[in-house]
Parts: sequence; structure tokens; C-alpha cells
Amino acid sequence: MVPVILAGGAGSRLWPLSRSSHPKQFLPLVGNKTMLQTTVERLEGIDGGRLPTVICNEQHRFLVAEQLRELGIEEGEIILEPFGRNTAPAIAIAAMAAREKDPDELLIVLPADHLLVDTAAFRKAVAQAATAAEEGALATFGIVPTRPETGYGYIRAVEGGRVSQVSRFVEKPDALTAEAYLDSGDYYWNGGMFLFRADRILEELELWAPEIVRACSEAYQSGTRDLVFTRLDPAAFTTCPNVSIDYAVMEHTDSAVVVPLEAGWSDIGSWSALCDAEESDGHGNVIKGDALTVDTTGSYIRAEDRLVATIGLKDCIVIETPDAILVADKHRSQEVKLIVEQLKAAG
Ligand code: GDD
Ligand code: MG
Repeated sequence: MVPVILAGGAGSRLWPLSRSSHPKQFLPLVGNKTMLQTTVERLEGIDGGRLPTVICNEQHRFLVAEQLRELGIEEGEIILEPFGRNTAPAIAIAAMAAREKDPDELLIVLPADHLLVDTAAFRKAVAQAATAAEEGALATFGIVPTRPETGYGYIRAVEGGRVSQVSRFVEKPDALTAEAYLDSGDYYWNGGMFLFRADRILEELELWAPEIVRACSEAYQSGTRDLVFTRLDPAAFTTCPNVSIDYAVMEHTDSAVVVPLEAGWSDIGSWSALCDAEESDGHGNVIKGDALTVDTTGSYIRAEDRLVATIGLKDCIVIETPDAILVADKHRSQEVKLIVEQLKAAG
């Protein structure tokens, strides 16, 4: 089984810590290992596990190589994209690379920016998913939803409580639909992790998104390879549609199964998600670095470079870095991306 780590996202909602030159997956947001490193370690020792394949942007090649080396991994495969085309092409390329060695090799696809508390429960779910995947299924991991989140995919299982066929997969529904799904109690969140055979995902991509297979195949075949990095041909890759695997395949396929996962999963998509995922002190605060607080509750405070002091704050995010400071209402931390857009527009 090849772990395929998707590490090409921008992580803009974790500005000002996460920057395009150094996105969140390469930062030690929780504990002292980076999110990429924690993701790789989560799979060490799984049954039949091989060295990981990391697929990321060209710009981050040395970060990835260095962070793998710190874990003692010198020979993992690192595939570089000249620019991002979303997860369907990234997965297609990783599957093509794996298929060269063994067509029915299993791939476990993991985003590099998730937290999972209970590794044992996760490995158990992986083993269940692997059994289904060996028989040709595209396995997803179902998380019991706790809010009407519109940023996730929703999965309806045919049967509840165990590995089941999927009757419906809906990527990022609108708020009303998400609320109805939550109320029905019939849906899981899609955990964004997948397990399938290399040949099976390529068959499904060929069926539902043949133009992705065509462009990726050409980009991979005409790409270059040195001792450490595999590079795609930019001219071929530029013709590839920009689509996630969820829209390209998961919403259409008849072969999806869902494995329930109760392992303390969280997608560290925003500062408030990070705050929720970490243990807070007696005042509901999560404090990182050098900070003094008076009458401050429910807040996430991160001091990277200087002392931060707060008085009378409730449910706030304060992020201090050498060249930028963010102060925000915790309930509006999704809107950090608006700041990043303004920054981009200003050049
Ligand atoms: N290599 C590469 N190239 N990686 C990418 C690219 C790309 O172009 N785009 C995104 N990624 C990586 C991101 O770094 C992240 O680790 C992962 O792929 C998923 O991409 P996101 O952009 O974070 O997806 P999402 O969060 O909107 O939605 C997915 O995850 C949700 C759970 O967190 C979907 O699978 C949803 O259905 C799911 O609920
Ligand atoms: Mg995500």
C-alpha cells in the first residue's frame, strides 16, 4: 500500500502564519512536527505499507525533501506540479506512478493538513477499507458530522454502522442542504482520505473525466525524473482541467464504500478549527508561545516572535508573526481568506 500525501494546497485561511512560500502543511501547528510529518508518521507500520509518495508544488520541493529526511525517509517519491490543478489530477498522477510498479497496488490518499487523535482507530479503519479496495471499491472514510459545514463532502451510506456501499456523495452542499443532511442523521462527512487500487481509480477517472487522464498521462510521460524528484511536463499539464476528485469521480461512481471513522478527525482549515482541535486551558484558551492574558476566554493566541498581552478578550484569534499580526473574531476566522485576497490584489 502506497501512502499518497496531497501537499499542494495553499492554506490561505491560516494567514499570517501560513504563506504561499510556506503553507500550513509544512508548519508545526500542533506539537513539534509539521503537519506533513505527522501525516507520514500516522501510516508507519500499517500492513503492507510502502514508502510515501508526496505530491506538491515545485516551489516546495526542498521543504518536502527536508521534512521527509528528518523522519529518516530518503527514498520516498516526490512528484512536483508546476502549478496546482486540484486533487483529481494529483491523484491521477500518483496512481500512474504506482501502476508502473504494480497495477493493483493499493493507494491510501491523505491530505497533508489533517489531525487525527486516535491512530489505532485510524489504522483499524484503514485495514477495513483495504479489504474493500482490494476487491475494487473506492473507499472513503465517514466522519459523524457535528455542524452543517458547507466546506465538506457528505456521504450517505446504504447501511449504517459499518463498512457500507455509498448511496450518495454530495460535495460541498449549500447551507440549507447541509443542515437537512445533519438533521436527517443519515450522512457522514467525507474525511477527504481515500483508499483504492491504482488501476481502479484510473479506470474511474477514465470513465468520468477522460480529459484528466489524457492530460495527466501526457504530463507524466513527457515529464522528467532525477534521483529525488519527478516533474510533470508543464505544457501538457496546463491543458488539464482543475477539478477535485470529489467532483470528478466520487459524486458519480457506483463503486464507493464508506468506512466509519471515529478517531478524533479534524481538518485544520481555519484558526477556529485549530483552536477546537487543541486542548484548552481552564479559561478555554489555547496559548502558543509567549503570551500574558487577563480576563481572556475562548481565544487562540499565538506569539511567534514577541510577547503578546491581552485584556478582556472573548472568542478571539490573535496571531503574531515577525511581519504581520492578525486579530479576529473567532467565529469569523473563515474570512481570513478575504485578507489574503486583498493582499494578493495589492501585489
Ligand atoms: N498536490 C496537490 N495539488 N495537492 C492539492 C491540490 C493540488 O492542486 N489542491 C489541494 N491539494 C491538497 C491540499 O493540500 C489538501 O491537503 C488536500 O489536497 C485536499 O484539498 P482541499 O482543497 O483542502 O480540499 P477541501 O478541504 O476543500 O475538500 C476535501 O476535503 C474535505 C475534508 O477536509 C474534500 O475531499 C471534501 O469532500 C472533504 O470533506
Ligand atoms: Mg481541506
